[in-house]
Amino acid sequence: MASNRLNQSDVDSLRSRADEQLTNILDSSTAPPQLKESMHYCVLSGGKRIRATLVYLVCNALGVSELSLADQPAAAVELAHAYSLVHDDLPAMDDDDMRRGKPSCHVQFDEATAILTGDALQTLAFASITQAENLPVATRLTMLSELTKAIGGEGMVGGQVIDLSFENRAASEEELEHMHHLKTGALIRASVRLGCLLAHADEETNAMLNAFGQNLGLAFQVQDDILDATASSAELGKPSGSDVNSQKSTYVTVLGLPEARQRLAELHARTNDCLVHLGDNGRSLRQLTDFVITRNH
Ligand code: IPE
Ligand code: IPE
Ligand code: MG
Ligand code: MG
Ligand code: MG
Repeated sequence: MASNRLNQSDVDSLRSRADEQLTNILDSSTAPPQLKESMHYCVLSGGKRIRATLVYLVCNALGVSELSLADQPAAAVELAHAYSLVHDDLPAMDDDDMRRGKPSCHVQFDEATAILTGDALQTLAFASITQAENLPVATRLTMLSELTKAIGGEGMVGGQVIDLSFENRAASEEELEHMHHLKTGALIRASVRLGCLLAHADEETNAMLNAFGQNLGLAFQVQDDILDATASSAELGKPSGSDVNSQKSTYVTVLGLPEARQRLAELHARTNDCLVHLGDNGRSLRQLTDFVITRNH
């Protein structure tokens, strides 16, 4: 495979590329002004853009030279993610009043606005794919199928339901792993899969990157659980100790901190194993994985 790796500054620029794409999509919406305002607020409020970056990096690692093909799918996963955060913070869910260092949507506006903003962001995610005119219609349909499966009842929403059922109840490690795979892992894995689709990845590469996405998604949420217990709200830009306050079962409460860190190290090794097949072309994905696992926010 020819080497077409991005260097670190190229990787950093992918976050800005995703921001630019999201800005264009939101600016061209004809939604009522007050809805546009809350959508802007929730999407363009920071965010690490890990899911969009994954779409771009998988494409690049697999030799897609035209990154603009990934622009709308990358925006779609970030819009779906932003919707999930707005609803996750609602009083009926985690009841968290800070997100990305600013008041949560329902605090800045009101609860009805937050519910509707989430709804609008979710459908805008789908529109971002259906309106990707630089992609064949069949590719858009397959992407929609991947995304809807990842964020609906069989994915993120299903995981959120299980997550809420773990308040005031001790879950087993197996139950937790299943829940994490759904609530966070599914969208991260879908981001990887959208990149594979754009690159027309062969069967072996698809299988290997699917396993990579699965392990990375789980690792992401294990680190999120660890940060909830160890970092400050100022570092996180969202309330720390939210899981403890709602007496939620997490990797930290179920396994204890040292064991949770051990699981994270095992997952780190597994993600790297999945990338061996890519050789040098997997370097940016390894760097992103290192960031996901060692991040402090
Ligand atoms: C937070 O995701 C929600 C989880 C799935 C744990 P991120 O940590 O990726 O949030 P942003 O987009 O950077 O704010
Ligand atoms: C949220 O998990 C997963 C989502 C689907 C948004 P958390 O509830 O742990 O995410 P944070 O910690 O609020 O970002
Ligand atoms: Mg939650
Ligand atoms: Mg939460
Ligand atoms: Mg959390």
